[in-house]
Amino acid sequence: MENELNLLAAEIDKDFETATESKALENLRIKYVGKKGAISAYYEKMGKLSKEERPKIGQLLNSLKNKVESLLTEKLEKFSGNTNNEIIDFSMPGYKLPAGKYHLISQTIRRIKEIFRTLNFDIAEGPEIETEYYNFEALNFPPHHPARDMQDSFHIDKGHVLRTHTSPVQVRTMEKCKPPLKIISIGKCYRNDPLDASHLPMFQQIEGLMVDEDINFSDLKGVLKIFFSEFFQKKTNIRLNPSFFPFTEPSAEVSVTCPICQSGCPLCKKSGWIELFGAGMVDPNVFRNVKYDSEKYTGFAFGGGIERLTIIKHSINDIRHFYENDIRFLNQF
Ligand code: DAH
Repeated sequence: MENELNLLAAEIDKDFETATESKALENLRIKYVGKKGAISAYYEKMGKLSKEERPKIGQLLNSLKNKVESLLTEKLEKFSGNTNNEIIDFSMPGYKLPAGKYHLISQTIRRIKEIFRTLNFDIAEGPEIETEYYNFEALNFPPHHPARDMQDSFHIDKGHVLRTHTSPVQVRTMEKCKPPLKIISIGKCYRNDPLDASHLPMFQQIEGLMVDEDINFSDLKGVLKIFFSEFFQKKTNIRLNPSFFPFTEPSAEVSVTCPICQSGCPLCKKSGWIELFGAGMVDPNVFRNVKYDSEKYTGFAFGGGIERLTIIKHSINDIRHFYENDIRFLNQF
């Protein structure tokens, strides 16, 4: 029997040398130390051995069994890449990856779009590099209006500027679509302003336009009141003060009741009102430029800053925070 066991030892070595994956190891476990495995079979034959033979063969069998078992663990560790004798608890929860989220300005934009969608407004878009015609002329800016100055606009070449507001999207949309229409447009605008707590050379605006027969100032007021109440999540009143924009007549500055305080805070400069949008009735000259019949149709337009809306909603004290991308600031929202 001793000879047989020596042969078996050689076979074990050979088998384990050629095993290349954990499935093969399982087969070897069954083959040698399984219930009906080769080593187990020899243990059963032990009873038939003489008293003298028994201890020696017993020892040999034990060492073969140990050999198989240690080869099994060694190879299994190797195949699973775990060579440090680590015990892996596969039921442990994995490492949590930090989840990304929308930038605060994107959150504002998404919320605004959501609100206007419920009011059946479509979303319109226009280019950020704009012709002087769409940025100024079509919007009824007189040729020497100060907004056209080099100080205010970033000029790309003769005839092109980085758009200074989203109002050109009004003109582009009216050229493409017949009335009635209800649109908003949101996007980046650029002005050559010095950087400070409330000015950035790049900022974002929302523009709104509604054109139909019999649209009047109270429609404008109604839509804005719903919008601001939804946006600030509280009943908000609106005040329209006379103002001037070349593309609206009459024009107004739109203020809302301060969403933060009841009796005066630094944000509303203790007045209880916060100026947010420009607005007005579309000037008939703008209608003429897009070949709309200004006798038949009227419309209102409004526009304002996305960052300013966000600053008021979340009581933020400096517009620059939005674009410095300090994760400690952004994570708060
Ligand atoms: N475009 C104006 C600005 O940049 C904002 C504005 C005012 C838009 C009145 C309008 C409007 O549509 O009717 O300050």
